[in-house]
Amino acid sequence: MPKIRRQPPRATQPAATPAPTAVQAFQGSEVTISRTPRPAPPVGTLPVADVGSQPLEGPVLKTRGERVAALEVIQAEVKPCIQCKELATTRTQTVFGVGNPLAQLCFVGEAPGADEDERGEPFVGRAGQLLTKIIEACQLKREDVFILNVLKCRPPGNRPPLPDEVANCRPFLDRQLAVIRPQYICCLGTTAAQTLLQTDRTIGQLRGKFHDYRGIPVMCTYHPAYLLRNPGAKRDVWEDMKKLMAKLGVNL
Ligand code: URA
Repeated sequence: MPKIRRQPPRATQPAATPAPTAVQAFQGSEVTISRTPRPAPPVGTLPVADVGSQPLEGPVLKTRGERVAALEVIQAEVKPCIQCKELATTRTQTVFGVGNPLAQLCFVGEAPGADEDERGEPFVGRAGQLLTKIIEACQLKREDVFILNVLKCRPPGNRPPLPDEVANCRPFLDRQLAVIRPQYICCLGTTAAQTLLQTDRTIGQLRGKFHDYRGIPVMCTYHPAYLLRNPGAKRDVWEDMKKLMAKLGVNL
């Protein structure tokens, strides 16, 4: 009888780890940065007005070229702006905003940080990388949306913007949004939400629901920098993004 030669056991191939999905990449990036908490933004300083009732300024610009040209006009005014003396003398450069001028969705943040001040583009530091993951988890690309800040200059030491600085810069924000006319706006954090909606309500009270800015529905959610310190809040942000994306016809 022929001997049956036993094959030595084959080394089992380790199962290839599947690449994380965009949603996992956002939710699983549990980076906790401990930092001395910033002082709370001054409360009771923002006038409460029914911004929803005011129409967007200016004509409806339909083509990309018209919008690029109109944004360039605003950018040319932002660049040499010296209304806020301290910011004008401490900034490296102004940070206007970036993205698709025909975007259906705009993200509004607070103000440039050190990385943004250096590069001249909003949300490029650690918080920005997390924002990019959120955008990708929403099945979008950074280039599909428009990203801008309430302030165009970096507050020294990343302190919260002062009410006067917000008031000085606000017309630029209103004009940018009037050119882009997105279908939806997403406010990231307290400063963006309180400034755009002209309210003193906290981000915890504002998030998760749609509000109105001059006829544009606004979703408010936590700022990515807050998520870096409190990764548990990513769950809430994801719920907010799902509501927002459902309106844009994307079921996450
Ligand atoms: N935080 C913001 O609010 N905006 C940026 O551009 C970067 C960090």
